[in-house]
Amino acid sequence: MDTIAHAAAHLRAGGLVAMPTETVYGLAAIARDAEAVARVFRAKGRPSNNPLIVHAATLAMAQECCAAWPPPAEALARAFWPGPVTLVLPRAAWVPDIVTAGGPTVAVRVPRHPVALALIEAVGQPLVAPSANRSGYVSPTTANHVWGVWPRSEVVVLDGGPCEVGLESTVVAVDEDSVRVLRPGVIGAAELALAAGVRVLEREGADATAASPGLIGPHYQPRARLVLVENPEDVRAYFDETKLVFLGPPGVSIDVPRPHVVLAMPGGPAEYARNLYGMLRGADAMEPSAIVVSVPGGAGAVWDAVRERLARAASR
Ligand code: TXA
Ligand code: MG
Repeated sequence: MDTIAHAAAHLRAGGLVAMPTETVYGLAAIARDAEAVARVFRAKGRPSNNPLIVHAATLAMAQECCAAWPPPAEALARAFWPGPVTLVLPRAAWVPDIVTAGGPTVAVRVPRHPVALALIEAVGQPLVAPSANRSGYVSPTTANHVWGVWPRSEVVVLDGGPCEVGLESTVVAVDEDSVRVLRPGVIGAAELALAAGVRVLEREGADATAASPGLIGPHYQPRARLVLVENPEDVRAYFDETKLVFLGPPGVSIDVPRPHVVLAMPGGPAEYARNLYGMLRGADAMEPSAIVVSVPGGAGAVWDAVRERLARAASR
């Protein structure tokens, strides 16, 4: 009986709901309820210095979370919402400190998933929702990835099918005359620039880390050691692992000795992005000593975002 009405009641009582979005599943709580938000941090094991994204059902509801709404924010919201772009703006006074990690800004987005939108509308106010994984692990892209992680009494899970995008939203800091990418996503700098009508600064390591604490520390990491190879043939260097799972390109035809496993990834960028986290989780479930991923080439925002996630999943 995990209906939207049941989930909304659970949220109103201070509980947590795993909700599908078009990017990844989020662990939602009512943004205004600081105690419920604290429960989200505890459930994830998330450091308190890493702020959360506030999810709204409409542009107007998102605007109410912000103390300023410069023209580029309006332009980006109109171009990409509902959709996988998160805007970082000065926070409205009502937004609890715990949501923004005490900072002066708030991250907001309108997700493009009917279940998420219906849930927010049923509750009638914005919801925080970090990705519904334990902090540091691979983000969930199906309800199956979320079931059983937390007790059912604590987290109600809404099944909205597999996520269409599969990678987390592009996060951008917005001011009057510029947009700065804090976390890459499937909407890239070129598309942002076209819509925003102002200059778009691409992410730069040190700077972005200071502006978005979520970029510090381990992220997207399976339990098994993850290794990246530029050339599929380079997987041979890992054949003496106890057990290897190799995520290779489509049609990969490298003979691996037992007990190693080879899985082919999809060839197109959207399909690759949609399947990446599920494949990493599946590989991890085989309890290998290492997962080796052949880094896909290819130009464009989706491939850039894929490579960024892989690089972070592989860094220890
Ligand atoms: O696609 C998504 O964005 C998913 C779905 C569930 O909406 N959510 C998600 O949330 O990825 P999370 O918590 O896993 O990542 C949020 C990112 C973190 O890197 C965090 O540091 C950054 O957004 N962030 C949140 N608030 C911020 C703020 N006020 N300033 C800068 N960065 C912020
Ligand atoms: Mg996350």
